Amino acid sequence: MRHLFSLLLLCLASLLAVSAQQCYMADSRVAVFYPAAYDAAAHQPSPIFERELCPTAAVAADWSLRPVFSQDGAQSVATVHVGEGVDYYGEGEVNGTLRRGGTTVTLWNTDNPNYCEEDSTRLYQSHPWLMGVRRDGTAFGLIADCTWRMTIHADADVTFRSDGPAFRVVVIEAESPQALMQQFTDLVGHAPLPPMWALGYQQCRFSYHPDTQVMDIADQLRRHRIPCDVIWMDIHYMDGFRIFTFSPEEFPHPRRVTDYLHARHFKSVCMIDPGIKVDSTFWLDREGTAADYWVQDSRHQPYVGNVWPGPCHFPDFTRPEVRRWWSGLYPALMAEGIDGVWNDMNEPAIGSSATKTMPLDAHHRGGEGLAAGPHLRYHNVYAHYMVKASRDGLLLSHPDRRPFVLSRAGFLGSHRYAAMWTGDNKSSYHHLRLSIPMSLNIGLSGQPFNGADIGGFNTSTTAELLADWTAVGAFYPFARNHCDQGGVRQEPWAFDRATLDACRTAINRRYRLLPYIYTAFEEATRTGMPVMRPVFMADVHDLALRGEEQAFLVGGDLAVVPRWAEKVHLPALWQRLTLEEQPDKYQATLYQRPGSVVPLANLAQNVEELATDSLTLLVCLDADGRATGRLYEDARDGFGYREGQYTVYTFTAQRADDGTIAVSMRHTDGTLPPRRHTLRLGLVSAGRVKYTPWREGEAVQWRF
Ligand code: NOJ
Repeated sequence: MRHLFSLLLLCLASLLAVSAQQCYMADSRVAVFYPAAYDAAAHQPSPIFERELCPTAAVAADWSLRPVFSQDGAQSVATVHVGEGVDYYGEGEVNGTLRRGGTTVTLWNTDNPNYCEEDSTRLYQSHPWLMGVRRDGTAFGLIADCTWRMTIHADADVTFRSDGPAFRVVVIEAESPQALMQQFTDLVGHAPLPPMWALGYQQCRFSYHPDTQVMDIADQLRRHRIPCDVIWMDIHYMDGFRIFTFSPEEFPHPRRVTDYLHARHFKSVCMIDPGIKVDSTFWLDREGTAADYWVQDSRHQPYVGNVWPGPCHFPDFTRPEVRRWWSGLYPALMAEGIDGVWNDMNEPAIGSSATKTMPLDAHHRGGEGLAAGPHLRYHNVYAHYMVKASRDGLLLSHPDRRPFVLSRAGFLGSHRYAAMWTGDNKSSYHHLRLSIPMSLNIGLSGQPFNGADIGGFNTSTTAELLADWTAVGAFYPFARNHCDQGGVRQEPWAFDRATLDACRTAINRRYRLLPYIYTAFEEATRTGMPVMRPVFMADVHDLALRGEEQAFLVGGDLAVVPRWAEKVHLPALWQRLTLEEQPDKYQATLYQRPGSVVPLANLAQNVEELATDSLTLLVCLDADGRATGRLYEDARDGFGYREGQYTVYTFTAQRADDGTIAVSMRHTDGTLPPRRHTLRLGLVSAGRVKYTPWREGEAVQWRF
């Protein structure tokens, strides 16, 4: 009945609707639909796509999903009739369940501490992207190519409703969710391969200061044997919150700090906000003012809004010359030994405004084909163009290093430039639980490199919560412990021995799995498959898995089940995996996919020390007695891998009738010569792992 009614409504809407002007097939499984009133200058060049879409032919007559375009007062609407029986995912950073059916989200980047504003239907990032998975396992994707403020309602009818002019809709059809991720990321671009150090555990607080505290945190991490690769510097390292400066009192010799960190195998990341203190004595404000680089108000005067330093100017990142200027600011900063950059408050968040951001009619001037336009159009992509310029700035500073930029705000496509974290969550079990579907949907929206603040940002965490959060967060693609200035200390050693031990065990697990996690990142950069994946990806035909949002997968071969998870649905026959460690009540239970080989490193305290010439291969045979696996290795930083300077090893295991298992490790791709490995095998079966030393080529006798 409901179905009939919505069909009727849709027919009516089509009658009233402005008929679709053109629809093209960009390739055999991608169609682009244009409304009659489409004005390319209001939307293009699109920040979403890596390359402008080049539709070539008419869409086949039997193409099923076709948007109907209409106007509703000042709003432009696109409705796609999908029908019942579809599971929806994606939409980027969203609050709530993994499956998005029946929900409405608002795309309007919002500084939303504790995810409380507007019933939390809008957060820091916006992704006009929805993926649908049908009962039969086929999948489709919808992209509304529109940066203007918008809502998405996902139901039997999917409705995109925008406060801007009529926009085009891209529809992708695929035989599976995996194929969809490939086609989707071929359009929106693939996330770049991060430097391996950025996959290590990271320690942060608002803020570690003065410089001696930064160095002390580094010492404590090593003293407590908590593996860690990065220490973060939040806004207090600056001189009065002026970006691109160091406090003369608290950080008088930045190079001393970064040298100290580097000597102990840590990297440093520091914060750069977009707001520049209005201060005629500040060189940066003077420079930007002289060159007229600021976003303007409706009277075309420099817009001023308050952030940490008080009144600020804001670079107009839609302008290519401003982006070039911004990029050019980084080399001097990075020359102090800074390794990565954290772009925050870039929704943009404005403390002095009732709307928490710039007025809708603030003026952005564009350039290189991008038309001048109001904030209503450019708000959602303010961070996008900012992080694009930041990434370029890091490349300018060190052309031979992979840039690491972390951003709070962003848009569909920003994954090409920066990793993201999920903003100011709360130290609560509810937010720990929420972080899983949130990260999963971000991953399904093209951004593999994401994670929530481990321990929670706002309010004070507890010993119990920190241990539980670290047990799960150690498996986020981006694993950083971070908290607000008012709360209790949140480092792993801030509470009792049991908490410290639990955090250490969880982080040790991450480091032992780093070769596998790095391999999953490399896969993400080619196939679009997220690093942290929903369980249903393991078997799209098992409908019971579609809503699983407590457990998750890391790569294709491991499942993580938090200890507090109840009634979890896992794919059939996955085997419980124990790593050689002291058990405690906090650790997540791991499961391995039958038919897989997972490489495990020896424990290291950081990526520089992580050696992979000695490996354990965890072999989990399938019902036919077979298993395969893959390990990707390269220089861990730099761009040599783009010229083939990497090594891929392929593992196979096969059980013979007499019970012996033949295992092989072959160098199957890349121009880097294979290395000699000291190897050990671990046969994963019936909840146990049986280890045996192994030389390549040797068949092993394994019996339980
Ligand atoms: C807001 C960010 O979300 C938070 O992570 C940071 O600590 C503060 N700004 C201070 O810079």
